[in-house]
Amino acid sequence: MDIVLGADHGGFELKEACKVHMESLPDYSVRDMGVFSPDPADYPKVAHDVARAVANGEFDRGVLICGTGLGMSIVANRYKGIRAALCHNLYTARMGRQHNDANILVMGGRVIGVGLALEMVDLFLMTPSEGGRHQRRVGQID
Ligand code: RB5
Repeated sequence: MDIVLGADHGGFELKEACKVHMESLPDYSVRDMGVFSPDPADYPKVAHDVARAVANGEFDRGVLICGTGLGMSIVANRYKGIRAALCHNLYTARMGRQHNDANILVMGGRVIGVGLALEMVDLFLMTPSEGGRHQRRVGQID
């Protein structure tokens, strides 16, 4: 599975931790679209880059992190075919996959800790969509 990652300065540290974690997992290739330092950066550019790449089919899934996750999710969800789930705990990360077939996980780097975030990443990558009535509803989104 090909994964693309992106963050602004508010999510930089958490993105780095997520990247190291994902690179340690077998069967995932990880591409980092920045930012590459904690210097202030505008979140929309990274969100556009990641969302466009997932929407184009270049990557299977994406992870976006800003301070709250709000700005990244607002931008990413403007793309047709993108289902960006702003998640704060294990339950929302799992349900985002099971019920919403989320293809981008969004997290707030100033909201959650690293340990929780890495478990959420695992759930996001490994939980299948439940299909059935949930897939019908996903189909109604666009
Ligand atoms: C940056 O200070 C912050 O506004 C940004 O990371 C994000 O939280 C926006 O939604």
